[in-house]
Amino acid sequence: LEDRIRKAVLPEQGRIPMFTYTDPGVYELEIERIFGRSWLFVGHVSEVPRAGSFVTRTMGEESVIVGRGDDSVVRVFLNACRHRGMRLACEDFGEVNNWRCPYHGFTYGSKGDFLGTFMGAPFEKVAYPEGLDRGALHLVEARCEVYQGLIFATWAKRGPSLDEFLGAAKWYLDLIVGRAEMEVVGHPERWMVPTGWRLPAENFASDAYHTATAHSFLQRLQMVKGADFGRSGYHVDVGGGHGLGVGVHSDEQSYFPTELAEEYARNLDAGQLHTLSRLKNLHGNVFPNFTFLIPNFIEVEGKLVSGAMLRVWQPAGPNRTQVWSWHFVEKNAPEWWKKLGKRMYTQTFSSSGMFDQDDTENWEMQTRVSDAALYRDEELDLHYGMGMTMPTLGKDEFPGPGDVYDGKFSESAARTYYRVWRDRLLEGTR
Ligand code: FES
Ligand code: FE
Repeated sequence: LEDRIRKAVLPEQGRIPMFTYTDPGVYELEIERIFGRSWLFVGHVSEVPRAGSFVTRTMGEESVIVGRGDDSVVRVFLNACRHRGMRLACEDFGEVNNWRCPYHGFTYGSKGDFLGTFMGAPFEKVAYPEGLDRGALHLVEARCEVYQGLIFATWAKRGPSLDEFLGAAKWYLDLIVGRAEMEVVGHPERWMVPTGWRLPAENFASDAYHTATAHSFLQRLQMVKGADFGRSGYHVDVGGGHGLGVGVHSDEQSYFPTELAEEYARNLDAGQLHTLSRLKNLHGNVFPNFTFLIPNFIEVEGKLVSGAMLRVWQPAGPNRTQVWSWHFVEKNAPEWWKKLGKRMYTQTFSSSGMFDQDDTENWEMQTRVSDAALYRDEELDLHYGMGMTMPTLGKDEFPGPGDVYDGKFSESAARTYYRVWRDRLLEGTR
């Protein structure tokens, strides 16, 4: 399989073989070599507001506990008891004084310096008269770092810091979660989609092209104006496998609430502010499966409104993905922006969102085609060649970092995504 990947995955030539979409062997490799080693998004600090608050999340296929020790420390542990490996926290979220294993009752600290520490076992003196090595029973801990309130964790003991890993993506993430003090609205929504996790990730990283066709209702709403489409934005190959698209309108008139202008100005630099002031939408993906989004402004109750959304495409098998979707809003936003923003979220990108209905249909059908016996052993090359010869823009043309392309007609970010993806899969096998 590694050999086949090496020979057939050729993003440099704009070629990706279709079997990689659904091959179970590829999926196994992804879980081990990508999800076992990458920085993965697990939540936002506002979801664990107090000492003892926790949420349970998934890294690859493994359940983890994201807990807060004291005000400054968030830590991430494998959700597994050190006695027989039972799942320790069985709730999605909560606030506890300690975690007590439901099987035999081993107990672990959930606060302060004791976070993750083995605290005791039932009948300990009788059951273990020789004593227990408490250090050896500490919960297995992942490396964890926070950027702008976004909590990331990785099982890689060495390797880049979160800062290095995010690189130029930080500039764009700031526009979504760094522009003001943000908070998660409710709890993240979850639903299953019948596709592998990579199709949606790749779509958000690199594919603005599908919007005009797959979401053609936008044209009826006059949100996409025929001739203007494709010119009204930028494609950004951020590097490191991260990619994004920025939609802008030609008139420089911000649709964001004026009440927040001052807070934005405090948090963003001049280039970011300028971009926000003409922003129509922003979609992107941090490698491997963390999507961020400011959707198209839509009219709700006579006002134009958008929001801030984050997503994780959680692998749940070669052909199944659990979507995790967070909706954010500025804490200091006026009530109308909060209220209508929630409506906008429900109508656009959520389990019942208009965009998700369209997208899921396409991903599901791609998955079925890829799974057809005909293509399993034979290469069916897919075309990833859009914009291969397109020049990048200079700093004077767009202020953001990365390789920036004028318009939406490029798949540069998808090619880089697949280059990083392939190299990770083959790491250690050469
Ligand atoms: Fe947790 Fe036995 S498995 S106490
Ligand atoms: Fe879409």
